[in-house]
Amino acid sequence: MAKIIKKIGVLTSGGDAPGMNAAIRSVVRTCAFHNVECIGVYRGYEGLIEGDFKILSARSVNNIIHTGGTILKSARSEAFRTKEGRQEAYLQLKSVGIDALVVIGGDGTFTGGMFFNEEFNFPVIGIPGTIDNDIFGTNFTLGYDTALNTVVDAIDKIRDTASSHKRLFFVEVMGRDVGHIALNAGVGAGAEEILIPEEDLGLDRLLESLRRSKQSGKSSSIVVVAEGDKIGKNVFELKDYVEENMSEYEVRVSVLGHMQRGGSPSCFDRVLASRMGVKAVEALLDGKTNYMVGILDNKMELTPLDQAVKGKTEINKELLRVSDIMTT
Ligand code: F6P
Repeated sequence: MAKIIKKIGVLTSGGDAPGMNAAIRSVVRTCAFHNVECIGVYRGYEGLIEGDFKILSARSVNNIIHTGGTILKSARSEAFRTKEGRQEAYLQLKSVGIDALVVIGGDGTFTGGMFFNEEFNFPVIGIPGTIDNDIFGTNFTLGYDTALNTVVDAIDKIRDTASSHKRLFFVEVMGRDVGHIALNAGVGAGAEEILIPEEDLGLDRLLESLRRSKQSGKSSSIVVVAEGDKIGKNVFELKDYVEENMSEYEVRVSVLGHMQRGGSPSCFDRVLASRMGVKAVEALLDGKTNYMVGILDNKMELTPLDQAVKGKTEINKELLRVSDIMTT
Protein backbone atom coordinates (compact mmCIF):
# COMPACT_ATOMS: atom_id res chain seq x y z
CA MET A 1 0.00 0.00 0.00
CA ALA A 2 1.29 3.46 -0.93
CA LYS A 3 2.22 5.71 1.99
CA ILE A 4 -0.04 8.69 2.66
CA ILE A 5 1.91 11.81 1.76
CA LYS A 6 1.55 14.81 4.03
CA LYS A 7 4.85 16.60 3.54
CA ILE A 8 6.79 16.99 0.28
CA GLY A 9 10.35 18.27 -0.06
CA VAL A 10 11.52 20.02 -3.22
CA LEU A 11 15.10 20.63 -4.35
CA THR A 12 17.09 21.77 -7.37
CA SER A 13 20.38 20.09 -8.15
CA GLY A 14 23.14 20.10 -10.80
CA GLY A 15 23.45 22.89 -13.36
CA ASP A 16 20.72 25.49 -12.90
CA ALA A 17 18.31 26.26 -15.73
CA PRO A 18 15.78 29.01 -16.43
CA GLY A 19 12.35 27.78 -15.39
CA MET A 20 13.52 26.10 -12.19
CA ASN A 21 11.90 28.84 -10.10
CA ALA A 22 8.65 28.49 -12.02
CA ALA A 23 8.79 24.74 -11.29
CA ILE A 24 9.43 25.34 -7.56
CA ARG A 25 6.48 27.75 -7.51
CA SER A 26 4.29 25.16 -9.15
CA VAL A 27 5.32 22.37 -6.75
CA VAL A 28 4.74 24.62 -3.73
CA ARG A 29 1.34 25.84 -4.90
CA THR A 30 0.16 22.39 -5.96
CA CYS A 31 1.06 21.17 -2.48
CA ALA A 32 -0.91 24.07 -0.96
CA PHE A 33 -3.85 23.29 -3.25
CA HIS A 34 -3.93 19.71 -1.95
CA ASN A 35 -3.29 20.72 1.68
CA VAL A 36 0.12 19.09 1.73
CA GLU A 37 3.00 20.83 3.48
CA CYS A 38 5.94 21.77 1.26
CA ILE A 39 9.54 22.06 2.43
CA GLY A 40 12.26 23.71 0.34
CA VAL A 41 15.60 21.93 0.50
CA TYR A 42 18.50 24.32 -0.13
CA ARG A 43 21.62 23.51 -2.23
CA GLY A 44 20.34 20.26 -3.68
CA TYR A 45 21.54 17.00 -2.14
CA GLU A 46 24.17 18.90 -0.12
CA GLY A 47 21.40 20.69 1.77
CA LEU A 48 19.49 17.42 2.12
CA ILE A 49 22.45 15.87 3.94
CA GLU A 50 22.87 18.96 6.13
CA GLY A 51 19.16 19.44 6.83
CA ASP A 52 19.07 22.87 5.20
CA PHE A 53 15.28 23.10 5.05
CA LYS A 54 12.66 25.84 5.02
CA ILE A 55 8.88 25.62 5.02
CA LEU A 56 7.46 27.07 1.81
CA SER A 57 3.90 28.39 1.71
CA ALA A 58 2.01 29.48 -1.39
CA ARG A 59 3.14 33.06 -0.57
CA SER A 60 6.81 32.11 -0.28
CA VAL A 61 6.95 31.74 -4.04
CA ASN A 62 5.40 35.08 -5.01
CA ASN A 63 7.13 36.93 -7.84
CA ILE A 64 9.55 34.23 -8.92
CA ILE A 65 7.89 32.83 -12.03
CA HIS A 66 9.89 35.21 -14.23
CA THR A 67 13.29 34.89 -12.57
CA GLY A 68 16.32 32.88 -13.70
CA GLY A 69 18.50 30.72 -11.44
CA THR A 70 16.96 28.88 -8.51
CA ILE A 71 15.79 30.40 -5.22
CA LEU A 72 16.68 27.08 -3.57
CA LYS A 73 20.27 27.29 -4.92
CA SER A 74 21.96 24.30 -6.49
CA ALA A 75 25.01 22.10 -6.00
CA ARG A 76 26.69 19.02 -7.41
CA SER A 77 27.04 16.85 -4.28
CA GLU A 78 29.93 14.42 -3.94
CA ALA A 79 28.73 13.27 -0.50
CA PHE A 80 25.37 12.14 -1.88
CA ARG A 81 27.19 9.73 -4.20
CA THR A 82 28.15 7.74 -1.10
CA LYS A 83 25.88 5.41 0.86
CA GLU A 84 26.79 7.24 4.10
CA GLY A 85 25.76 10.57 2.59
CA ARG A 86 22.43 9.20 1.46
CA GLN A 87 21.86 7.61 4.88
CA GLU A 88 22.47 11.00 6.51
CA ALA A 89 20.01 12.60 4.07
CA TYR A 90 17.38 9.97 4.92
CA LEU A 91 17.75 10.67 8.64
CA GLN A 92 17.37 14.41 8.03
CA LEU A 93 14.18 13.85 6.04
CA LYS A 94 12.74 11.55 8.70
CA SER A 95 13.60 14.02 11.46
CA VAL A 96 11.28 16.65 9.94
CA GLY A 97 8.69 14.20 8.63
CA ILE A 98 9.17 14.71 4.89
CA ASP A 99 7.44 11.79 3.14
CA ALA A 100 8.43 12.36 -0.49
CA LEU A 101 10.74 14.39 -2.71
CA VAL A 102 10.46 16.29 -5.97
CA VAL A 103 13.96 16.62 -7.46
CA ILE A 104 14.51 19.13 -10.25
CA GLY A 105 17.65 18.68 -12.36
CA GLY A 106 19.36 16.52 -14.96
CA ASP A 107 20.60 12.95 -15.18
CA GLY A 108 22.97 13.25 -12.19
CA THR A 109 20.06 14.46 -10.07
CA PHE A 110 17.89 11.57 -11.22
CA THR A 111 20.61 8.99 -10.63
CA GLY A 112 20.91 10.23 -7.03
CA GLY A 113 17.11 10.18 -6.64
CA MET A 114 16.90 6.66 -8.00
CA PHE A 115 19.52 5.27 -5.61
CA PHE A 116 17.79 7.03 -2.74
CA ASN A 117 14.45 5.57 -3.69
CA GLU A 118 15.87 2.05 -4.01
CA GLU A 119 17.82 2.15 -0.74
CA PHE A 120 15.16 3.69 1.49
CA ASN A 121 11.95 2.98 -0.42
CA PHE A 122 11.50 6.75 -0.37
CA PRO A 123 9.05 8.27 -2.90
CA VAL A 124 10.83 10.42 -5.49
CA ILE A 125 9.60 12.15 -8.65
CA GLY A 126 11.95 14.02 -11.01
CA ILE A 127 11.38 17.16 -13.07
CA PRO A 128 13.87 17.58 -15.95
CA GLY A 129 15.64 20.93 -15.61
CA THR A 130 18.71 21.43 -17.79
CA ILE A 131 19.42 23.66 -20.75
CA ASP A 132 20.96 20.71 -22.64
CA ASN A 133 17.66 18.95 -23.51
CA ASP A 134 19.47 15.65 -23.11
CA ILE A 135 16.96 13.73 -21.02
CA PHE A 136 15.13 10.73 -22.42
CA GLY A 137 11.36 10.69 -21.81
CA THR A 138 10.62 14.32 -22.54
CA ASN A 139 10.60 16.32 -25.75
CA PHE A 140 11.76 19.38 -23.81
CA THR A 141 13.67 19.97 -20.59
CA LEU A 142 13.15 23.14 -18.54
CA GLY A 143 15.48 25.92 -19.64
CA TYR A 144 16.22 24.60 -23.11
CA ASP A 145 13.85 26.93 -24.94
CA THR A 146 15.13 29.94 -22.99
CA ALA A 147 18.75 28.96 -23.68
CA LEU A 148 18.00 28.67 -27.41
CA ASN A 149 16.56 32.17 -27.41
CA THR A 150 19.56 33.47 -25.47
CA VAL A 151 21.98 31.88 -27.94
CA VAL A 152 20.11 33.13 -30.99
CA ASP A 153 20.01 36.64 -29.52
CA ALA A 154 23.76 36.54 -28.84
CA ILE A 155 24.56 35.24 -32.33
CA ASP A 156 22.38 37.94 -33.92
CA LYS A 157 24.60 40.48 -32.18
CA ILE A 158 27.77 38.71 -33.24
CA ARG A 159 26.45 38.70 -36.80
CA ASP A 160 26.23 42.51 -36.76
CA THR A 161 29.91 42.86 -35.97
CA ALA A 162 30.92 39.88 -38.16
CA SER A 163 29.29 41.39 -41.21
CA SER A 164 30.66 44.89 -40.51
CA HIS A 165 34.20 43.53 -40.46
CA LYS A 166 33.79 40.71 -42.98
CA ARG A 167 34.89 38.17 -40.40
CA LEU A 168 34.36 34.51 -39.69
CA PHE A 169 33.24 33.74 -36.12
CA PHE A 170 33.40 30.46 -34.28
CA VAL A 171 30.74 30.61 -31.57
CA GLU A 172 30.95 27.97 -28.84
CA VAL A 173 27.72 26.98 -27.16
CA MET A 174 27.04 24.57 -24.26
CA GLY A 175 26.58 20.86 -24.88
CA ARG A 176 29.35 18.53 -23.68
CA ASP A 177 27.61 15.39 -24.87
CA VAL A 178 24.72 16.55 -27.03
CA GLY A 179 24.28 19.04 -29.85
CA HIS A 180 20.66 20.08 -29.37
CA ILE A 181 21.49 23.68 -28.48
CA ALA A 182 24.07 23.99 -31.26
CA LEU A 183 21.85 22.46 -33.92
CA ASN A 184 18.64 24.30 -33.14
CA ALA A 185 20.18 27.66 -32.32
CA GLY A 186 22.51 27.24 -35.30
CA VAL A 187 19.61 26.83 -37.70
CA GLY A 188 17.67 29.61 -35.95
CA ALA A 189 20.60 32.00 -36.18
CA GLY A 190 21.46 31.08 -39.77
CA ALA A 191 24.89 29.56 -39.06
CA GLU A 192 27.12 28.57 -41.95
CA GLU A 193 28.10 25.29 -40.30
CA ILE A 194 27.12 23.55 -37.06
CA LEU A 195 29.55 21.23 -35.28
CA ILE A 196 28.02 18.79 -32.79
CA PRO A 197 29.11 15.79 -30.68
CA GLU A 198 26.84 13.37 -32.55
CA GLU A 199 28.28 13.82 -36.07
CA ASP A 200 31.80 14.13 -37.39
CA LEU A 201 31.63 16.75 -40.10
CA GLY A 202 35.37 16.57 -40.68
CA LEU A 203 37.80 19.41 -41.07
CA ASP A 204 38.00 19.00 -44.84
CA ARG A 205 34.30 19.49 -45.19
CA LEU A 206 34.43 22.53 -42.97
CA LEU A 207 37.13 24.13 -45.13
CA GLU A 208 35.28 23.15 -48.28
CA SER A 209 32.09 24.75 -47.00
CA LEU A 210 33.87 27.95 -45.96
CA ARG A 211 35.58 28.13 -49.37
CA ARG A 212 32.31 27.67 -51.18
CA SER A 213 30.62 30.36 -49.15
CA LYS A 214 33.45 32.81 -49.83
CA GLN A 215 33.30 32.06 -53.56
CA SER A 216 29.54 32.50 -53.61
CA GLY A 217 29.98 36.06 -52.41
CA LYS A 218 29.42 35.81 -48.64
CA SER A 219 31.70 38.16 -46.78
CA SER A 220 31.10 36.98 -43.20
CA SER A 221 30.17 33.67 -41.63
CA ILE A 222 29.17 32.14 -38.31
CA VAL A 223 30.08 28.59 -37.34
CA VAL A 224 28.32 27.27 -34.22
CA VAL A 225 30.32 24.71 -32.25
CA ALA A 226 28.99 22.59 -29.37
CA GLU A 227 31.44 22.25 -26.44
CA GLY A 228 31.84 18.53 -27.10
CA ASP A 229 31.86 18.55 -30.90
CA LYS A 230 33.15 15.40 -32.56
CA ILE A 231 35.91 16.99 -34.61
CA GLY A 232 37.69 17.16 -31.26
CA LYS A 233 39.17 20.65 -31.67
CA ASN A 234 38.02 23.49 -29.47
CA VAL A 235 37.01 26.83 -30.98
CA PHE A 236 40.48 28.34 -30.54
CA GLU A 237 42.12 25.40 -32.30
CA LEU A 238 39.54 25.64 -35.07
CA LYS A 239 40.35 29.33 -35.48
CA ASP A 240 44.08 28.54 -35.84
CA TYR A 241 43.36 25.72 -38.25
CA VAL A 242 41.20 27.84 -40.54
CA GLU A 243 43.62 30.77 -40.44
CA GLU A 244 46.52 28.46 -41.37
CA ASN A 245 44.60 26.96 -44.27
CA MET A 246 42.56 29.91 -45.50
CA SER A 247 44.44 33.17 -45.27
CA GLU A 248 41.48 34.93 -46.90
CA TYR A 249 39.58 34.64 -43.60
CA GLU A 250 39.97 36.88 -40.58
CA VAL A 251 38.69 34.74 -37.73
CA ARG A 252 37.36 35.53 -34.27
CA VAL A 253 36.06 33.35 -31.45
CA SER A 254 33.20 33.87 -29.03
CA VAL A 255 32.53 31.46 -26.16
CA LEU A 256 29.03 32.11 -24.86
CA GLY A 257 29.54 30.10 -21.65
CA HIS A 258 27.33 30.37 -18.60
CA MET A 259 25.29 33.30 -19.86
CA GLN A 260 23.32 30.54 -21.64
CA ARG A 261 22.10 29.29 -18.27
CA GLY A 262 20.85 32.63 -17.00
CA GLY A 263 18.01 35.01 -17.68
CA SER A 264 14.28 35.20 -17.41
CA PRO A 265 12.58 32.00 -18.61
CA SER A 266 10.65 32.09 -21.88
CA CYS A 267 6.87 31.77 -21.80
CA PHE A 268 7.29 28.20 -23.06
CA ASP A 269 9.53 27.28 -20.12
CA ARG A 270 7.23 28.95 -17.58
CA VAL A 271 4.19 27.06 -18.86
CA LEU A 272 6.13 23.79 -19.04
CA ALA A 273 7.44 24.28 -15.49
CA SER A 274 3.94 25.00 -14.18
CA ARG A 275 2.57 21.86 -15.84
CA MET A 276 5.45 19.68 -14.66
CA GLY A 277 5.15 20.86 -11.05
CA VAL A 278 1.45 19.99 -10.92
CA LYS A 279 2.05 16.59 -12.49
CA ALA A 280 4.97 15.79 -10.15
CA VAL A 281 3.06 16.51 -6.94
CA GLU A 282 -0.12 14.80 -8.12
CA ALA A 283 1.88 11.74 -9.21
CA LEU A 284 3.31 11.46 -5.67
CA LEU A 285 -0.14 11.88 -4.14
CA ASP A 286 -1.36 9.09 -6.47
CA GLY A 287 1.27 6.78 -4.99
CA LYS A 288 3.67 6.95 -7.96
CA THR A 289 7.39 6.91 -7.27
CA ASN A 290 10.71 6.69 -9.12
CA TYR A 291 9.37 8.44 -12.22
CA MET A 292 10.29 11.55 -14.15
CA VAL A 293 7.63 13.91 -15.43
CA GLY A 294 8.05 14.74 -19.11
CA ILE A 295 6.23 16.31 -21.99
CA LEU A 296 5.65 13.98 -24.94
CA ASP A 297 3.46 15.12 -27.84
CA ASN A 298 2.25 17.98 -25.63
CA LYS A 299 1.00 15.62 -22.91
CA MET A 300 2.40 15.22 -19.41
CA GLU A 301 3.78 11.68 -19.14
CA LEU A 302 5.74 9.68 -16.56
CA THR A 303 8.91 7.77 -17.48
CA PRO A 304 10.72 5.49 -14.98
CA LEU A 305 13.78 7.32 -13.67
CA ASP A 306 16.17 4.55 -14.76
CA GLN A 307 14.94 4.88 -18.36
CA ALA A 308 15.25 8.65 -18.19
CA VAL A 309 18.84 8.25 -17.03
CA LYS A 310 19.90 5.43 -19.37
CA GLY A 311 17.97 6.41 -22.48
CA LYS A 312 19.57 8.62 -25.12
CA THR A 313 18.02 11.56 -26.90
CA GLU A 314 18.39 11.75 -30.67
CA ILE A 315 19.33 14.80 -32.64
CA ASN A 316 16.92 15.84 -35.34
CA LYS A 317 18.67 14.74 -38.54
CA GLU A 318 16.24 16.71 -40.65
CA LEU A 319 17.72 19.87 -39.14
CA LEU A 320 21.18 18.89 -40.36
CA ARG A 321 19.81 18.69 -43.90
CA VAL A 322 17.90 21.96 -43.53
CA SER A 323 21.09 23.59 -42.33
CA ASP A 324 23.01 22.23 -45.34
CA ILE A 325 20.39 23.53 -47.76
CA MET A 326 20.37 26.95 -46.09
CA THR A 327 24.09 27.37 -46.70
CA THR A 328 23.53 27.27 -50.48
O1 F6P B 1 24.45 20.41 -17.97
C1 F6P B 1 24.30 21.75 -18.16
C2 F6P B 1 25.61 22.41 -18.50
O2 F6P B 1 25.29 23.76 -18.62
C3 F6P B 1 26.35 21.88 -19.72
O3 F6P B 1 25.85 22.30 -20.97
C4 F6P B 1 27.74 22.39 -19.48
O4 F6P B 1 28.67 21.63 -20.17
C5 F6P B 1 27.86 22.24 -17.98
O5 F6P B 1 26.56 22.29 -17.47
C6 F6P B 1 28.73 23.25 -17.30
O6 F6P B 1 28.81 22.90 -15.95
P1 F6P B 1 29.42 23.81 -14.78
O7 F6P B 1 28.41 24.84 -14.42
O8 F6P B 1 29.67 22.87 -13.69
O9 F6P B 1 30.64 24.46 -15.36
